Amino acid sequence: MRPQSPGTSGIFVTGTGTEVGKTVVAAVIARSLAAEGKSVAVFKPAVTGLDEEGEPDHALLRRAAGSAQSDEAIAPYRYGPPLSPHLAAALAGEEIEPGRLLAAARSAAQGADALVCEGVGGLLVPLSPGYSIRDLAVELALPLVVAAAPGLGTINHTLLTIEAARSAGLEVATVVLTPWPEQPTRIEESNRETIAALGEVQVETIPRIDLAHPNSWPALLPVRLSPPRDE
Ligand SMILES: Nc1ncnc2c1ncn2[C@@H]1O[C@H](COP(=O)(O)OP(=O)(O)OP(=O)(O)O)[C@@H](O)[C@H]1O
Ligand SMILES: [Mg+2]
Repeated sequence: MRPQSPGTSGIFVTGTGTEVGKTVVAAVIARSLAAEGKSVAVFKPAVTGLDEEGEPDHALLRRAAGSAQSDEAIAPYRYGPPLSPHLAAALAGEEIEPGRLLAAARSAAQGADALVCEGVGGLLVPLSPGYSIRDLAVELALPLVVAAAPGLGTINHTLLTIEAARSAGLEVATVVLTPWPEQPTRIEESNRETIAALGEVQVETIPRIDLAHPNSWPALLPVRLSPPRDE
């Protein structure tokens, strides 16, 4: 299928898995763009685990971007149980429709200077039985940012993710290691260098931040966003 851009510049934040810092990375990038005066739209194809405590991803992303989008506009599919999206949808008696996701992402991007998308889990997570996060990233034609942990085990997870991305023709703009410790150990420093060398990729870091206070976050603009394309 031909990649279809949502017509706006942006990035797609994926990760080496679940709970690796995708939301933190996407939020910091969204906040950095907004701080430059850009209007930023955020998007997350599906949110699961709404039954659990804490600020859901779509709410944190909206807050970081300073966006006025509704829950529905940011995340068209939202489920209570903390499950893979295809399973959460099945238990709710439905299937996630790729066409609805693409339409929602394009609509979110419309009128914004930049679109910041966060995936769900890692690249090969199914949204529906035959449609993965990677398929969605390809159709949106956005460069990837890969969130990963700094510690032991991250080299393999990150290189696998980069390989899976590139094999589908996706551009990997950067890897972001998070939370990067104040005093990194030799392992963490080596992980950073090894991922950059073996993955032939830019590697950035984000220190531990206070999620409640976006004003205190560092700037992270790993991708030079091209101006919106004329449709
Ligand atoms: N730089 C950081 N500063 C503070 N907390 C961090 C940082 N990086 C990661 N974390 C913490 O690690 C945990 C996982 O991060 P996050 O929610 O961003 O992961 P995720 O990949 O988006 O997870 P999910 O798969 O559920 O969407 C969170 O508790 C988050 O606050
Ligand atoms: Mg998240």
